[in-house]
Amino acid sequence: MSDFTSNFWSLFVAGISVVSIAACLLLLWITARKKVPFQSDNTTGHVWDEDLREMNNPLPIWWVGLFILTVLFSIGYLVVYPGLGSYKGTLGWTQVGEYEGEVTEANQALAPLYANFTALPPEKLAGNAQAMAVGERLFMNNCAQCHGSDARGSKGFPNLADADWLHGGGTDKIKETVSQGRTGQMPPMAAAVGTPDDVKNVANYVLSLSGSPHDSLRAALGKSKFGVCAACHGVGGKGNPALGAPNLSDDIWLHGWGEEAIVAMVNNGKTNQMPAQQGKLTEAQIHVLTSYVWGLSNKPAVTP
Ligand code: HEC
Ligand code: HEC
Repeated sequence: MSDFTSNFWSLFVAGISVVSIAACLLLLWITARKKVPFQSDNTTGHVWDEDLREMNNPLPIWWVGLFILTVLFSIGYLVVYPGLGSYKGTLGWTQVGEYEGEVTEANQALAPLYANFTALPPEKLAGNAQAMAVGERLFMNNCAQCHGSDARGSKGFPNLADADWLHGGGTDKIKETVSQGRTGQMPPMAAAVGTPDDVKNVANYVLSLSGSPHDSLRAALGKSKFGVCAACHGVGGKGNPALGAPNLSDDIWLHGWGEEAIVAMVNNGKTNQMPAQQGKLTEAQIHVLTSYVWGLSNKPAVTP
């Protein structure tokens, strides 16, 4: 309820709860008081289907007792737990608090296990079967939705299982990527390149860098236009991990292969984001994930 600026809805909800509880008691009181005229044979005088008669017995006392108990229970519940509009309850219980308590408890229970893991550098940890089993589970829960369960990525989401890196594949760089996130940004470049024809030429030059099928006449014309691209992608298009600018000469394509895909890149640019995991995952979990991701494209020595 705290998302509302006025407390009208809070009072509205609380009012409905209080009125409903009062109405339950009132109903009981009225029905207990109401005298139904009855015949000497203790029926109300109503007869259905020729011989079905309605007796005029009082409510069983256990039933009335239970009815009152449930009403008392609901009042007690609303006093200690949040339920009356924005009133927080005397116990101060919250869903978020309960969730966070459980997470802290789980992290504490796992702390000795993780202490063994954080004692090792990632390159060593990657050879530890137990740590990698934990790493795989962490990856499935937190990373696979974007990078795929085999970590091979898809269009726009980089393959983490090969040796090609946008931001660097050393364990320090991987850890930095995972904890702080990354934004890969290429501005629209068409205006800097020239006419649509120039854009096609430079696209063919890019294709020629990886030996992909291309129009060699256009590639030759596009070469001089690549100067504006080299600022980020480097001379010869080898890429620059400091800027997250991909290597264009290796025939690995994050955003699709071919003249059309490259022309679209140049015309529209691209902003691509890896979300920061710091705060969501613990330092120790990020350490294990770093080792796991590093181990996918390196051959770690097996350690006990
Ligand atoms: C919401 C989608 C998403 C999730 C979840 C996600 N990533 Fe990413 N990740 C990306 C994108 C997109 C990039 C590419 C960023 C760029 O283009 O610069 C990326 C890049 C990376 C890179 C850098 C790759 C390189 O070539 O330098 C690493 C390492 C990485 N992610 C690891 C992880 C790990 C580990 C997790 C789980 C904790 C994770 N990612 C979760 C979307 C995601
Ligand atoms: C300001 C830096 C910058 C400039 C200038 C720049 N790029 Fe990029 N480019 C990037 C970055 C960063 C990415 C990766 C975007 C991402 O993370 O998804 C990229 C991605 C690409 C891709 C996609 C690669 C793939 O694997 O799918 C192509 C193709 C490309 N650039 C071509 C060019 C061409 C051609 C030019 C010159 C006309 C150019 N870029 C100029 C930074 C730049």
